[in-house]
Amino acid sequence: MSETIKVNGHVFPMPADARVSLLDFLRLHVGLTGTKKGCDHGQCGACTVLVDGVRINSCLTLAVMHSGQEVTTIEGLGTPDAPSDLQKAFLEHDGFQCGYCTPGQICSATALLEEIRAGWPSDASDDLTAPSLSDEEIRERMSGNLCRCGAYANILAAIRQVAEAGA
Ligand code: FES
Ligand code: FES
Repeated sequence: MSETIKVNGHVFPMPADARVSLLDFLRLHVGLTGTKKGCDHGQCGACTVLVDGVRINSCLTLAVMHSGQEVTTIEGLGTPDAPSDLQKAFLEHDGFQCGYCTPGQICSATALLEEIRAGWPSDASDDLTAPSLSDEEIRERMSGNLCRCGAYANILAAIRQVAEAGA
């Protein structure tokens, strides 16, 4: 079994303490503080990252459970000089106020677009074999990400813009 974990393309050794959550590993061991700790209980989505392309709450899992896997954080999606399409769209649409929830929102939205491309249905899907990206579909898929500032309307507009540009 591999004893390393890849984060944004770089390989890191696993923490010696098997109790370290993936969230704490990213923030405290790797030094990537873009991923935020909100509730630390799987309720707010601030800690969302991608593991092998699939979004998860990093507070609810241990780093050692991801041996050999590839983790992507907000820092791995884009940089201030080369932002991703969603990062640009969030700026353009004022999709945040304090910005605390934003890394998790953007990681979730990135995975959401992949889920739709792959044809994965959700509870809100009109067609279970080919879900379309209605506002309800986006809201349902982003429902695990809470924004205390209430920037939801602008987040929806940002995701819709990127989805339509890629359609
Ligand atoms: S910090 Fe992980 S869901 Fe809130
Ligand atoms: S922008 Fe402040 S919590 Fe979402």
